[in-house]
Amino acid sequence: MTATPKTTALMQRGIDFLGSEHAILCGAMSWVSERNLVSAISNAGGFGVIACGAMTPELLDTEIAETRARTSKPFGVNLITMHPQLFDLIGVCAKHGVTHVVLAGGIPPKGSVEAIKAFGAKVVVFAPTLALAKKLLRSGGDALVIEGMEAGGHIGPVATSVLAQEFLPELAEEHLVFVAGGIGRGEAIAGYLEMGAVGVQLGTRFACANESIAHPDFKKAFFRAKARDAEASVQVDPRLPVIPVRALKNKGTEAFTAKQREVAALLDAGEVDMGEAQLQIEHFWAGALRRAVIDGDVEGGSLMAGQSVGMVTQEEPVADIIAQLMRESEEALSRR
Ligand SMILES: Cc1cc2nc3c(=O)[nH]c(=O)nc-3n(C[C@H](O)[C@H](O)[C@H](O)COP(=O)(O)O)c2cc1C
Repeated sequence: MTATPKTTALMQRGIDFLGSEHAILCGAMSWVSERNLVSAISNAGGFGVIACGAMTPELLDTEIAETRARTSKPFGVNLITMHPQLFDLIGVCAKHGVTHVVLAGGIPPKGSVEAIKAFGAKVVVFAPTLALAKKLLRSGGDALVIEGMEAGGHIGPVATSVLAQEFLPELAEEHLVFVAGGIGRGEAIAGYLEMGAVGVQLGTRFACANESIAHPDFKKAFFRAKARDAEASVQVDPRLPVIPVRALKNKGTEAFTAKQREVAALLDAGEVDMGEAQLQIEHFWAGALRRAVIDGDVEGGSLMAGQSVGMVTQEEPVADIIAQLMRESEEALSRR
């Protein structure tokens, strides 16, 4: 008998899909979601996801093997659709028999979903609109993550609460939908489960866990920050559509503005096309995030964080965070 029967019952379809004890995913966070955090999440009954955004196929190969060496529980791999070596990365996942691939960052290119399903893995997709969600679920997506603008990292324009009301009544009966963005406590999880979600995905809340390799200064910046400090980046040039990124405000925020101007000038001069321009922007983020997470450059680097950062106040073991979320959800459901 589980200690959280009501929450577990509402999560059951998500649990069956993920193969984990709880349907709580730790969303992939570049540089943060590596072997240590991913295995800790999965060992604690959640579902860890390796962030492969900034990795070469060789690095992913090693990361999967090292994660496997640390956990026998299921975990996933997050691939960014615009990665120039996407199909090679899928090949690495196939070689290791990865069970779940999360496709993030845009519409999956032709053949990618099929290539993943060909080796038996389940495909998790993101969709910013209901129409696209339906299309992706029709064309091979096995589960959907809806992620609101409260989240850390790259974000869409709509809040989680609104996405949940728009997507869940239409999709929840037939499809598996996980809700992400702005979740800091279990009461919010209970609410989304009652609306039909089969599970949730959190990032910010796990970024500073004991098992996270993020630099101590990166973690300190999170502990100090309040919800309002996690700001969305602004687009400076209407011709260069950049996906907004939510991060703690610092000097790096200004550097991004400068980077956009530089890339817009290259576009104007015809030195790069739009695809290359957007790739340069993404490389900027990957580099800036690395400087903050790994080197502890909390001034110049990117401190990607969601609005739930105000609820991150200390370093805690992953197992404690998951236990707390489950307990809070159960208490909320028991009060109904
Ligand atoms: C530091 C950081 C890095 C992230 N990097 C990625 C990434 O590489 N790929 C991705 O799909 N999502 C990324 N995300 C989003 C998370 O996977 C997750 O969906 C999000 O954090 C959930 O919202 P929350 O921050 O409100 O919990 C990142 C989030 C953070 C905070």
